[in-house]
This record gives sequence, structure tokens and C-alpha cells, in this order.
Amino acid sequence: MRHILDARDFDVDFIAHINERACIFQDALDNPNTRNSFRHLQSGSVLLNIFYQPSTRTRLSFFFAAHRLGMGVDGTENAGQFSSAIKGESLEDSVRVMCEYHPDVIVLRHPEKGAAKRAAAVSSVPIINGGDGAGQHPTQATLDLFTINREVGRLEDLTVVMVGDLRYGRTVRSLCYLLAKYPNIRIRFVSPPQLRMKNDIKRYLAKHRVSFKESTSLKKALKGADVVYVTRIQREYFEAAKGIDYDEVSSMFILDEKAMQWLDVKSRILHPLPRVNEIALEVDDYPQAAYIRQAGYGVAVRMALIEWVLAT
Ligand code: NCD
Repeated sequence: MRHILDARDFDVDFIAHINERACIFQDALDNPNTRNSFRHLQSGSVLLNIFYQPSTRTRLSFFFAAHRLGMGVDGTENAGQFSSAIKGESLEDSVRVMCEYHPDVIVLRHPEKGAAKRAAAVSSVPIINGGDGAGQHPTQATLDLFTINREVGRLEDLTVVMVGDLRYGRTVRSLCYLLAKYPNIRIRFVSPPQLRMKNDIKRYLAKHRVSFKESTSLKKALKGADVVYVTRIQREYFEAAKGIDYDEVSSMFILDEKAMQWLDVKSRILHPLPRVNEIALEVDDYPQAAYIRQAGYGVAVRMALIEWVLAT
């Protein structure tokens, strides 16, 4: 059975395969006449979206991806409140019961790190990790690589700046795991001191000979960057980490019109979204702004991922 749980499980052949399929899907989706030409591929199968944490893009892009593949889709967008979890049911019991209804794939988002692995341990159908707390977000990282490849034209020899909440950001963690598979990657981390990238990722990068450095100067970091990956300051994770002043950390690094002077015209700005104030609205009109297109690519990439987990 094929699960998607952890970006470390992927290899470059897998990513190349997903990128190739997603390219075909993306071109077809861009044209109203061909948008529905893949509905035969998984017709009759059912995708179950179980989200215990808020989501717009991940949940809806899986929804659209499944529809474009001809699948039925159901689930819950507030499983923490509207499922039996509120009555005290364990994740394991919920997954075991859902499997009795015979969905073909379950997409799970959960606030606890490791939840997708726990679900996979008891599931009789493939589990796709749609984000497990401050752990990982492997389908977002796959989408991020697809975006970099499509917008910058390559996945090797890149200078990638990661800005914002690197401590609780699961997207940057998964992206580091994936970038480490390619040659000549240079990463620059720019974050408030309280929200620096955790040591496990730094150790992983060092072990895989990825050069990285931490910087407190956005200006310096942006010079010569190919990709600028901006993230939101994730206030919801601060409750457990008292002593972090949201207003202070969220105003530290803002990508605004002034910062755009330091950025090459060929570079691309990505963001998993949602954006709060970390990218000023005026940046949206610059050719480097790729984040809205990036979100759109989520449907094609998730079509490719669903197809892969369901391939026998
Ligand atoms: C991210 C997430 O949920 O980890 N969003 C997403 O899936 N596109 C980032 C965030 O919430 O800031």
C-alpha cells in the first residue's frame, strides 16, 4: 500500500514522475475543453478528506483534484469539533471505522506531529498526510518543487531563501527534506530569533551536504536568490510557547516594494498561503510573485499524487 507521510520517503525519480504527470494535468486544466479529460482515470473511487485543523487550499485542491479524476469526495473540514473526536474517540479508532466504509484514499490533517503515521499504522487504505501539526506537509513540498521547476526551470543549483516562522512551519521542514535531494542547493534562513529553524533540519541538511546559513538581514539574503519562500507567522502554535510577542515577530521581515529592489527579476516568490502581512499587497503585481499560481498548481500536483497512491 502506498501512503504519503513524510517527504524523506521520496526520491528524485518519484518527484520527476509526479512533476511529469502534474505538467500534463496542469496543461489540460488550463484549457476548458480538456479540463475533464481525465475523469475516467479514477472513476468510481472515493477520496475522504478528514481535516482536524483549518485549511482552504489543501482541502479544496484535493477536492478538485479528486473530481477531475472522476472520484467521489466526502469528509469533514472540522473533524476536531464535528466528528466523534469531541466525544473522546481516538484517531486510531476513527481511522479503523472509516476504513470499514471502504474509501480508496484518506487525506488527513491533524494538529499532532506524527498523526499521519499513527493513522497509516491502523489503516487498510492509503493515507495522505495533509499536514501533521508542526511536523510535515509533504504534498505542499511536492507542489513547491513543481512550482520551482515550472517557474525557475530547474531543481538543482538554486539559492533558496526561507523567510518567516521556520520553527513551527511544517512546509519549510518538508521543503528542506526535498531540496536536500538535489545538487548545489544553497539555503538562507531568515527568521525572528525566537522562530529559527530547528536543529533536526539543520543536522539533516549538514548530513546531506546542503549549504545553509542563518541571516537576520533580509536585504543581504535576497541578493542573488532564485527562490524566496515566505511563510506566515503561525500564531496558533504560540500558545504552547509562551514569551513570543506576535506583533513583534510578525513585523520583523516584510517583503514589500522596497525589498523588491534587491531581488532579481528572474527570481520567484513562493508562499504556501494564507498570507497575513508578510508579503505586501503591492508585491502581487511584480513578475516574481508566483504564490497565487503556486496555489493553483496544487490541483494538478495532487491529481498526480492521488494517481500514484492508487496505482496498483
Ligand atoms: C500551510 C499549512 O497549513 O501548513 N498552509 C497550506 O497548507 N497551504 C501554511 C500555513 O498555514 O501558514
